[in-house]
Amino acid sequence: MQIITSAKELQTILKQVGGTVGFVPTMGALHEGHVSLIKQARTQNDVVVVSIFVNPTQFLQGEDLDKYPRKEEADRKICELSGVDYLFLPQVDEMYGKDEVFVEAPLVRGYILEGATRPGHFSGVLTVVLKLLHIVSPSRAYFGKKDAQQLFLIEEMVRNLFLDVEIVPCETMRESDGLALSSRNVYLSKEERKEALKISSSLNLARSLVTKGELESEKIIEAMKKRLEPLEVEYLVVVNRRFESIKQVVIGDTIVLVEAIVGSTRLLDNIWL
Ligand code: PAJ
Repeated sequence: MQIITSAKELQTILKQVGGTVGFVPTMGALHEGHVSLIKQARTQNDVVVVSIFVNPTQFLQGEDLDKYPRKEEADRKICELSGVDYLFLPQVDEMYGKDEVFVEAPLVRGYILEGATRPGHFSGVLTVVLKLLHIVSPSRAYFGKKDAQQLFLIEEMVRNLFLDVEIVPCETMRESDGLALSSRNVYLSKEERKEALKISSSLNLARSLVTKGELESEKIIEAMKKRLEPLEVEYLVVVNRRFESIKQVVIGDTIVLVEAIVGSTRLLDNIWL
């Protein structure tokens, strides 16, 4: 595995390699969720590139940019063991200048749900993902369904800007008890971690209600809210795959999304029905 810190250098190298390139952008503190994306990239491409960059523009003022978990040494080992060819560790100075072009997230669907609690967050995500896609020029790029709204907005950007890359959605990896893996789980105390299980449990409840024939979004949301008590729920919605709110679940075209605050940690999860 080659470690590269310069965008220009990586661009030069990747122009010379043949075959397909699979790309997995991350912010580090890698866990089995990230590894599953890397493994999928490994099986589908000749060359695998992973980036680790804690992107400042997707953190709002007062958010946990400085506190974001950084585990460079462990991350390197994980990448090496997962068969990564190039690990890209860009510097903020090279990635960002002053007074420069910035991508604006769609004004409706980039500012609901996660975008409502974190206005501007998705503009930062789209800006860095666009930069990274231009640096790496991958055949395929891998994103987790765990961050469903992020995945949707990246797919939109690829369509809207006619980018020549296949976006590959990847399944959410979970602990054996159901908790979705997240770099933020390290912030949870033992007690909070137990409470956090209510999130995946409420989503399982939604699935079982739908299986039994309950398709009304409102009824599903009510039942889930009870299951989530006493957690503070930031949002709980039933949307179609275009992120429009729907009154009735349509199997094959629905996502149920939850964000709840456990202690002081925001946890996201969803299921695709
Ligand atoms: P990060 O949170 O590090 O996540 C990197 C990728 O891993 C994302 O596509 C995310 O959806 C995926 N992922 C996270 N948890 C997962 C899980 N439990 N199962 C499967 N996949 C999971 O998302 C970002 O970084 C950043 O916003 C980024 C896209 C890199 C732009 O800065």
